[in-house]
Amino acid sequence: MTLPNGLTPEAASQQAARAYELDRRHVFHSWSAQAQINPMTITATQGCYVWDGDGNRLLDFSSQLVNTNIGHQHPKVVAAVQEQAATLCTVAPQHVNAARSEAARLIAERTPGELNKIFFTNGGAEAVEHAVRMARLHTGRYKVLTRYRSYHGGTETAINLTGDPRRWPNDHGNAGVVHFFGPFLYRTQFHASNETEESERALAHLEQTIAFEGPSTIAAIVLESIPGTAGIMVPPPGYLAGVRALCDKHGIILIADEVMSGFGRTGKWFAIDHFDVVPDLLTFAKGVNSGYVPLGGVAISPAIAATFDDRAYPGGLTYSGHPLATAAAVATIDAMADERIIENAADIGAEVLGPGLRELAARHPSIGEVRGTGVFWALELVRDRATREPLAPYGGTSQAMTEVAAECRAAGLLVFINFNRLHVVPPCVVSAAEAKEGLALLDQALTVADRHTV
Ligand SMILES: Cc1ncc(COP(=O)(O)O)c(C=O)c1O
Repeated sequence: MTLPNGLTPEAASQQAARAYELDRRHVFHSWSAQAQINPMTITATQGCYVWDGDGNRLLDFSSQLVNTNIGHQHPKVVAAVQEQAATLCTVAPQHVNAARSEAARLIAERTPGELNKIFFTNGGAEAVEHAVRMARLHTGRYKVLTRYRSYHGGTETAINLTGDPRRWPNDHGNAGVVHFFGPFLYRTQFHASNETEESERALAHLEQTIAFEGPSTIAAIVLESIPGTAGIMVPPPGYLAGVRALCDKHGIILIADEVMSGFGRTGKWFAIDHFDVVPDLLTFAKGVNSGYVPLGGVAISPAIAATFDDRAYPGGLTYSGHPLATAAAVATIDAMADERIIENAADIGAEVLGPGLRELAARHPSIGEVRGTGVFWALELVRDRATREPLAPYGGTSQAMTEVAAECRAAGLLVFINFNRLHVVPPCVVSAAEAKEGLALLDQALTVADRHTV
């Protein structure tokens, strides 16, 4: 029996041992205390599955870093990258290239409203950097408002915009960034008892923040349409429309960060499509080509694009719109449309994951709340349902969460874990049978969490 990539188990295990040894000697890992990590080696991937260095098959309900929306090794995307590599590997950004042009057309067609021009980057953080730069130059203002409980990327402006503890050690350069609270009923800052109150009070808080910061100084409000890493808090009805109205009133640019929530993750092309709101700038990455080759970008409104018709845009990247990355995007977007992958994500969310996770919540006292849509779900794990005391503190981890993560892995399930939350974020191509398999494995792992409840 060989692995999907043709490696024999023996060859895979030898390769894994060598890779691990070299990794620990030479690779410096993101966001980690280097001496304290024991990273998993992956030797093969296929669809919703990955194989680890010991030959175990795991169901990938993390989509890696919530990016493999189309699943692993999709044959049409692999073929498109191979074909592009054989035809034309690289061109400088100042030249026109067929893959880039077509990717821009396909993305512009799918983004909401008239966001018809696309600036390509290598990933999500750069997309956010450039969106903010465009907003500042377009408005002539400097301040940017963004919410606590958010993640916008690891580069200078993006990490300063981020509303999670990864910002703290990087906070020195945050001139002009102001954080506010967004709606999150389960842990409401506004003493709200229902979604309507939460929405109204969060909007009133934002309006006050704008008034106190000085509306004429504010270039942009940056929001994840549905915050991802921070907890998949689907905004209550009316909230995003209310933010749009405040932006219109004060001439503030609305930047929707769709890096994690875009390209099918929520069961629509973009999360903001659920709310009938059109931003001025929309950032994307991850799902645009499922990360087969690094790619991100900004979709730009006609008014902002026009600012740079006769004035040079002061920004660029050697690999902007790289042919391999944009060819992968073209194949991904075409396959998503042809194979009804986004419809699948919506159906799996509505028919399997949503009901299945709620059913788990009925039996596991450690689940405080289930929230999400499409293939974008979070379980809020708590020690005590009555007080909502989290199973790990904000910004930290705990013995209980470490045990839950280990149990998932031992059961054969990869999930995304952040503080006290467990995110169920499989590829958009996940089948009903795979989703049910994942729920059964989760059921098993959650018994470990239950032992830590009061
Ligand atoms: C909403 C959001 N914005 C930006 C980023 C940064 O993207 P990248 O890691 O590609 O730079 C992420 C990554 O998780 C994200 O979730």
